[in-house]
Amino acid sequence: MIRERILVIGASGQIGVELTLALRKIYGNNNVVASDLREENELLKGTGPYVSIDVMNKEMLHVQVIRQNITQIYLLAAILSATGEKNPNLAWHLNMQGLLNVLDIAREEKIYKVYWPSSIAVFGPTSPKQNCPQQTIIEPTTVYGISKYAGEFWCNYYHQRYQVDVRSLRYPGLISYKSAPGGGTTDYAVEIYHEALEEKKYTCFLREDTYLPMMYMPDAIRATIELMEAPAVQISTRTSYNVSAMSFSPKEISAAIKNYIPEFTINYEPDYRQSIADSWPQSIDDAVARNDWGWKPEYDLNKMTKDMLENLRQQ
Ligand code: NAD
Ligand code: SER
Repeated sequence: MIRERILVIGASGQIGVELTLALRKIYGNNNVVASDLREENELLKGTGPYVSIDVMNKEMLHVQVIRQNITQIYLLAAILSATGEKNPNLAWHLNMQGLLNVLDIAREEKIYKVYWPSSIAVFGPTSPKQNCPQQTIIEPTTVYGISKYAGEFWCNYYHQRYQVDVRSLRYPGLISYKSAPGGGTTDYAVEIYHEALEEKKYTCFLREDTYLPMMYMPDAIRATIELMEAPAVQISTRTSYNVSAMSFSPKEISAAIKNYIPEFTINYEPDYRQSIADSWPQSIDDAVARNDWGWKPEYDLNKMTKDMLENLRQQ
């Protein structure tokens, strides 16, 4: 049996912190090396090894992979949709070159498995709005979506040509209470819980009727680990899998919060992120993931809202 040594790149981000902690529970604290551009992370302190790495520095990354005897890499470092529209060149450069650096090192060092997330942002205005299928018209209009779609094909290419076992999910907007989100269009659905508890009111940067696909972080972490642990024969999609959990609008999430905080109020001041949200599907069909490796979400809007508010109150 292989003794896994896992490198998480972008471990200090919204997903990275929770994924690192979950992987450490499974594989042992010292076998999961957290890494990020950031020097340290309060939430990861004392839980296992942490190294400062720039994924753009391929040589430094390569040395760490060899030195730490890495067998699996989870690449989470990226620039998300809203920040990407402010700096398209930087987003393209990091999202593409970071992935190519990891795929190249994986090929050279015979890394056993690689995980890299894509996003619902691959879809564009010409994709179906409801139950958007795995394979459909895909014409993204954000630099983030373009980089994710190109990245999906690089993953497929490295798998076909070099047999790198790279796996991927198209995450919806992710909602969590541990680590703050990093510049996405779906971030409102995290901010709203914080503001509801602290201020009892929230100004939303999307219109009240903007439906988007969303997922609670425990489901996203479980989906990631289930995909990575599935036998290779069950993985039919080597670009990236649609995964889905729920779909709601700002008006609906505010109604769910009002069940717990009746005095909560919301108003709407849409900004540049509205057109990004309008370009994405409202809901996703994840039948292929369900059939291939048994994906099934656990959280809906109400179950998530109860859990988010309880955990944020405790913090
Ligand atoms: P995040 O912005 O919260 O975290 C990214 C981390 O990468 C940060 O800690 C940052 O310091 C680090 N980083 C940036 N540049 C780096 C570099 N050059 N070298 C090393 N580290 C660097 O992002 P996230 O929300 O945790 O997203 C992780 C991945 O999941 C990304 O690929 C993102 O596109 C994807 N994704 C996220 C969501 C979501 O809702 N959060 C949805 C779909 C897809
Ligand atoms: N949550 C992400 C974003 O809004 C979707 O990939 O950018």
